[in-house]
Amino acid sequence: MMPAGFDPEREEAFIMIETYGRQIETWSRTLVFTTFFALIFFQMCGVSHALNEKGKPALYLVSIGVGDTDLITVRAINAIKKSDIIVCREKTKERFAEYLKGKEFLNISLSGWRTYGRDCSRIKDEEKRGRCKENRKKRAKLISGIRSAIAAGKTVAVLGSGDLLIYGGPYRWYLKEFADVNPQVIPGVSCFNAANAALRKDVASGKETHAVVLTTVREIEKLSKHHPTMVIFTMHTKFKDLVEKLKNFYPLQTPIAVVVYAGYKEKERVIKGRLNTILELVGDEKLPFEHLVYVGDFLAQKMKK
Ligand SMILES: C[S@@+](CC[C@H](N)C(=O)[O-])C[C@H]1O[C@@H](n2cnc3c(N)ncnc32)[C@H](O)[C@@H]1O
Repeated sequence: MMPAGFDPEREEAFIMIETYGRQIETWSRTLVFTTFFALIFFQMCGVSHALNEKGKPALYLVSIGVGDTDLITVRAINAIKKSDIIVCREKTKERFAEYLKGKEFLNISLSGWRTYGRDCSRIKDEEKRGRCKENRKKRAKLISGIRSAIAAGKTVAVLGSGDLLIYGGPYRWYLKEFADVNPQVIPGVSCFNAANAALRKDVASGKETHAVVLTTVREIEKLSKHHPTMVIFTMHTKFKDLVEKLKNFYPLQTPIAVVVYAGYKEKERVIKGRLNTILELVGDEKLPFEHLVYVGDFLAQKMKK
């Protein structure tokens, strides 16, 4: 006898709802746990390349800033502190001696980076081919030095001036060569930042465009159509050749500035003129390697009060 009011179909429906409810609860829990563990797993995979056995990054690429040593960042100093082995120039060793006490060093001149990725055997010129091979040998020595240090659980820091990833030729190959250890890159104050400060102008405040192009002499023609602010990394370009080239693509009245030794309190200097006057203003002076050239009407902008 069924109790009065008992409806078997309704009861069955209740049981089904309850069963589905429990299943959905179990699935949701499984989903939450799986996602949680997957996230931890992927996190660990991502980081484990970068950390050595002591839980520290295996390789840092540290931008130490441009000009005087007080343009290094706190983050760069901390990365140096955490490192056991430093790869840097002799001059850097002297200038940043206070942060480098007790460190071991590897010789950066072994980098031979200019020929990185080149097949030396395909170079026709015998002398150049020889140099390429020599570079390759030197580079192999540096790479194996860094790899052995990392394998021994040490942290290596490669130091370079300015910001390593703005025209930082040598540092690109470290990123490629050591991609498997996922180097940590520390940003830095570039000569571009220091020179902007020396000019005391907003480089993106041109009248014709607000665009800023960082470039070298080779690409001026391609990039000058809309007269953006151009910041030219000179890399041994003859100043006269550079100005003559610019004259072909910018009006002769366009303002131009040369920032020499940006970031050095004692020797930083700005020479300002227009495309048709600057050669005379610079005169016979041989500009040092460390100079940047700015072209654009932002230089003529007056500050509004
Ligand atoms: C290979 S690039 C290196 C730039 C560097 N990675 C940086 O962020 O400052 C070298 C060029 O940067 C510019 N430069 C470097 N140091 C400078 C300085 N202190 N003042 C002005 N220009 C500088 C010069 O045009 C030089 O030819």
